[in-house]
Amino acid sequence: MDKFVIQGGKKLSGEVSISGAKNALLALMPASILAPGEFIFDNIPDLRDVRTMSRLLEMMGLGVSIQENRLYIDSSTINKFEAPYEHVKKMRASIYVLGPLLARYGEARVSLPGGCAWGPRPVNFHIEGMKKLGADVVIEHGYIVAKAARLKGTHITFDTPSVGATGNIMMAAVLAEGITYIENAAMEPEINQLAHFLNKMGAKIHGIGTKHLEIEGVQNLNPAPIATIPDRIEAGTFLVAGAITGGNITITNCIPDHLRALLSKLEQAGCIIKVERSRITLESPHTLQPVSLTTDVYPGFPTDMQAQWIALMCKAKGTSVITDSIFTDRFKHVPELNRLGARIEVEENVAIVHGNGNLKGAKVMSTDLRASASLILAGLIAEGETEVLRVYHIDRGYESIEKKLQKLGADVRRIKTEEF
Ligand code: EPU
Repeated sequence: MDKFVIQGGKKLSGEVSISGAKNALLALMPASILAPGEFIFDNIPDLRDVRTMSRLLEMMGLGVSIQENRLYIDSSTINKFEAPYEHVKKMRASIYVLGPLLARYGEARVSLPGGCAWGPRPVNFHIEGMKKLGADVVIEHGYIVAKAARLKGTHITFDTPSVGATGNIMMAAVLAEGITYIENAAMEPEINQLAHFLNKMGAKIHGIGTKHLEIEGVQNLNPAPIATIPDRIEAGTFLVAGAITGGNITITNCIPDHLRALLSKLEQAGCIIKVERSRITLESPHTLQPVSLTTDVYPGFPTDMQAQWIALMCKAKGTSVITDSIFTDRFKHVPELNRLGARIEVEENVAIVHGNGNLKGAKVMSTDLRASASLILAGLIAEGETEVLRVYHIDRGYESIEKKLQKLGADVRRIKTEEF
């Protein structure tokens, strides 16, 4: 088990390069099930979740190998159509194999994910979507067991846009007979990249980047190469790291357009933002202003930046109100931030942050990926030493975060510990 030991108080400065997006790659990798053959994925991040997805695909018989930032998948050797509980409980994105398995092989047995660290996260949209496409789906012994001869095009309207269900149903519909319409589809860049990738493989998806997707089923798909888009949440986390420490930093290898909602909020907080092609430079103000916000689906402010924004607002001069409209109980970081001296109250899905900037180092515990990021950010400004335990959560979604922070001048060390 590792922990991070952080000496707070260093202003960050310099450049940091952004890695490939976890949530894009976790959808792209299972898409390889749809076309037997050899795939090459470039710009892949070195993350625990990517290794977990690789193990899952290997267990299903696919060949997977990683060489630096490149990942190879040979999907022609697949021989098992199942995602067992042991994998799905570690990583909910394992459910992405459901659509491709059903579409290509007509059967899938995928464990139900169950609750996640911050509360229930249902998968009913995925299940209902497969049923609408004509699959016979039953829940047996904690597993989704689905069968279909050939899926059939249909109309699916989500009550609320879901990233995972849009991706899963899209992967099922590309090989279905006829046309599938998805209304109120997710428009997140990671889902758009999946749709473009499927089209490169021979699919016919129209309306990419809008709420209305039209998927014309085809008979076969072929392998295609792809480079993962940069991770907008990693990029956002580093921008907040610059702002919280009063530093001036530049992030490189990012897509600024994917970060519009965050950049606008950072400007409202007083930061000066300069955007050039694939670089963003942030100059911190003398005093950060409080900025309230509500998370929303893309292009709104991402729920995956809510915890980091709360950490930033602890430093602002005044009170801000942060509402999470996507995951209404995603606030496990708040009691830990309060142990560092923050003054945050949570009522239902609303956090009221009384900024004071006066954090003091303490031992705190990571509970999930983005909560860990927020604790590290708080540790960067806390007086004295902060220890963040259970950093295996951060390794799921941030590539070498401590090394990247060290390069920017932070005093962060990864230490082996028996503590849990
Ligand atoms: N929802 C349902 N039923 C479903 C699916 C979703 O009610 O069957 C609801 C959820 O409870 C939530 C909303 O729909 O209120 C949106 O959830 P969504 O399905 O979009 O989330 P997801 O696909 O499970 C992905 C990311 C999350 C990110 C969310 C929202 C991946 C692998 N995960 O999850 O990323 O928070 O979209 O943007 O892409 C993270 O990276 O830390 C992370 C949790």
